[in-house]
Amino acid sequence: MSKKRHSPDSQPAKINPFMTLPEHGLSAEQIRESLSQFKQRDLSWRNGRVFAYVYDAGPEAEAVIKEAFTQYLSENALDPTTFPSTMQMERQIVRITAGLLHGDQQVVGNVTTGGTESLILAVKTARDWAWANRPEISHPEMILSRTAHASFHKAAHYLGVKLVIVPFDEESYRTSPEAMREAITDNTVLLVASAPNYSHGVVDDITGIAALAQEHNILCHVDACIGGFQLTFMRQVGYDVPPFDFAVPGVTSISADLHKYAYAAKGASVLLHRHKNLRRYQMYGSISTTAYAIPNPTMLSTKSGGPLAAAWAILHYMGQDGYQRIVRQVMGATEKLIAGIDAHPDLYVLGQPDMSIFAIGSHSMNVFQLADVMKENGWLLQPQFSKTATPQPNIHITLSHSNVPHVDAFLDDLSQAVEETKSLPPLNVAIVKQQVDSLLKTLPPAEAATALYQLAGVEGSQLPNGLALINTILSILPPPIAEELLMQYFNDLYT
Ligand SMILES: Cc1ncc(COP(=O)(O)O)c(C=O)c1O
Repeated sequence: MSKKRHSPDSQPAKINPFMTLPEHGLSAEQIRESLSQFKQRDLSWRNGRVFAYVYDAGPEAEAVIKEAFTQYLSENALDPTTFPSTMQMERQIVRITAGLLHGDQQVVGNVTTGGTESLILAVKTARDWAWANRPEISHPEMILSRTAHASFHKAAHYLGVKLVIVPFDEESYRTSPEAMREAITDNTVLLVASAPNYSHGVVDDITGIAALAQEHNILCHVDACIGGFQLTFMRQVGYDVPPFDFAVPGVTSISADLHKYAYAAKGASVLLHRHKNLRRYQMYGSISTTAYAIPNPTMLSTKSGGPLAAAWAILHYMGQDGYQRIVRQVMGATEKLIAGIDAHPDLYVLGQPDMSIFAIGSHSMNVFQLADVMKENGWLLQPQFSKTATPQPNIHITLSHSNVPHVDAFLDDLSQAVEETKSLPPLNVAIVKQQVDSLLKTLPPAEAATALYQLAGVEGSQLPNGLALINTILSILPPPIAEELLMQYFNDLYT
C-alpha cells in the first residue's frame, strides 16, 4: 500500500487554523521547518541572555545529551525487568549523587522527572511515614517559610497535608528555626529547608532545622533542587559552603535536580532518603485492576529512558573536573555581576546569596519596569513577589554556564535600561495598591476580577506589551485572589 504524502518540498507546513489532524502526513522536512518556524516566537537562550529556565553546558555537551536521549527515546523505564539498563543507569546516578551529598551506603533514592515531582514525593513520604508510625495523627502538617518552593504548596494541595507557614528573616531571607520550633504541634510530620531558596539564593540554617526535626522525631527535607550539584562543586573548589546535605544529622531526605546545575536534559531530578525504611513510603503499588502489576517508585508509570540516559551521559561526560571548571567560571561571573549591581547607585542585591542565583531590588524605581525594558533588549529577568508586609518588586537572576561570556554586556545594558526606566512614567506600588484595595473593597468578587484584568491591561487572553503593571498588581493582591486570577487566565489561554 503506497502512502500519500505532501510533496517533500522545503516549504514549512501551513499552520492549520482549525488544528485538525492533517488528512495526509507531512514530510519530515516540512515538520522540521514547521518546528523551526514555531521556535522563532520563543526567546532565544542560545545568546546567553536568558537568566532562567535553561542550563546549557555548551555545544559538545549538548550533542552528548542529545545522542544519549535519542538512544533511549523509546525504552520504557516503567519496567526494569524488560529494560534492566534503565535501572542500572538510575542506580548509578543515585549512587553518584548520594556520594556527592555525603550520603553513606544506607542512602537510597530514585530519579524523578524534576524538582516538583521530587518534592511531591518527599511530602508523600512524610505523610505515609506518619500514617504508619504516628497513627494518632489524622491531619498531618508540614512547616516551611515563604522562601520554600511553590512545589511544597502544590504537594500540600494534592496530598491533603496542611501547610504551616512561618516567617523568614527579612534581612537574610533565611527561614527561622525558632519560628519553626514555635509552630511544631502534635500533627507536625515534616520540616522543610532550602539549599538554597530559589528567590534569593540563600541556604537556610539546615543544621538548626534538622536538629529540631531530630529532637521532635519528625522528618526534615532539604530542597537542594537548584543547589545540590552547584554547592557540591563549589565546596570542592574551595568555596565556603554552609552545611546542607547528609553530613548534617537529622536531614532525612534531599532533592537535587540533574536538569539544573548538573546540566542534564529536562526531565531529571534525584530524590534521596537517608535509608530504605523511609523510601518505602515513597512507593506506590497496585495489582487491583484487570491489567498488569504497577510497582511505581515514582509518580509516573510509563516514562522514556531518554532523560535518564541523558543524565547518566552528562555526569560521565563532565566528571568532577568538568563541573569544577564550570563552577569556577559561573561563580567568577556571579561575583562580577553582584559587584557591578551593588556598585550601581540605583540597584542592590537582596541579602547575601550563597551561590549563583540572586535577586535585584531598587529604592528609586519599580524594577518590574526595568525587567520590561531589559526584555525589549532580549534579556530575560524574572519578576518575583517579596511577600513582605510592604510589597517590594524584585527581579531574579539564575546565572549558569551559557551566561558567563555575557556579563559585561549585561551590566552595560542594565545601566542603560536603568536610565530608560527612570525616564518612563513611574509605576508607584503605593498608588497601585490604593487602586487595587478600593476595587476589592467596593466590588463583589466576580466584578472585582473583571476590573482587575482591566486595570492590568489584559484583554481576553491578550497581554499588554509590558508586564510591569500586571506583576505589580500580582505582588499586591492577597495570594488566594492572585492565584484565582492566574488560574482563570490560564484556563482561558489553553483553548
Ligand atoms: C529550590 C527549587 N525547588 C524546586 C524547584 C522545582 O523544580 P522543577 O521546575 O524542576 O519542577 C525549583 C525550580 O527552580 C527550585 O529552584
